[in-house]
Amino acid sequence: MKILVINGPNINMLGIREPDIYGKSTYKDLCAMILDHCQKKSIAVDLFQSNHEGDIVDEIQEAYGEYDGIVMNPAAYTHTSVAILDALKAVGIPTVEVHISDVSKREDFRQISYVRQYCELTVCGHGFDGYLEAIDYLLEKYGK
Ligand code: DQA
Repeated sequence: MKILVINGPNINMLGIREPDIYGKSTYKDLCAMILDHCQKKSIAVDLFQSNHEGDIVDEIQEAYGEYDGIVMNPAAYTHTSVAILDALKAVGIPTVEVHISDVSKREDFRQISYVRQYCELTVCGHGFDGYLEAIDYLLEKYGK
């Protein structure tokens, strides 16, 4: 089982950005937590973070034939990006959408998610644990 974890803009600012919403732990902490979890479960994992929509589209395209699943927090691009939705549809890799905060209880503009149309599952409001829940879902369903 090989999983790609993609994080969108400003996720690299975790620990600094709005700690009352996203917590005080850093992106480095998040990566360490995911790597540790995947090592324990014998899952191969790669982590990618970018502030650039086109780079995220490129990464999804390059994932074709390489990964069994994608865990994706598109961050602000969740609410705007048809290009990311189309890239996910193009490669056809099972994908879980993750948000650290509970977007359903936040501003109106966060109620739209373009990627959700493609994603099998959305985990939101579970903090960093949401990424591990998403990985476990993919392992349970597609693990080999
Ligand atoms: C987020 C929620 C988005 O609305 C926001 O733009 C982010 C992070 C989350 O993980 O809670 O950057 O995806």
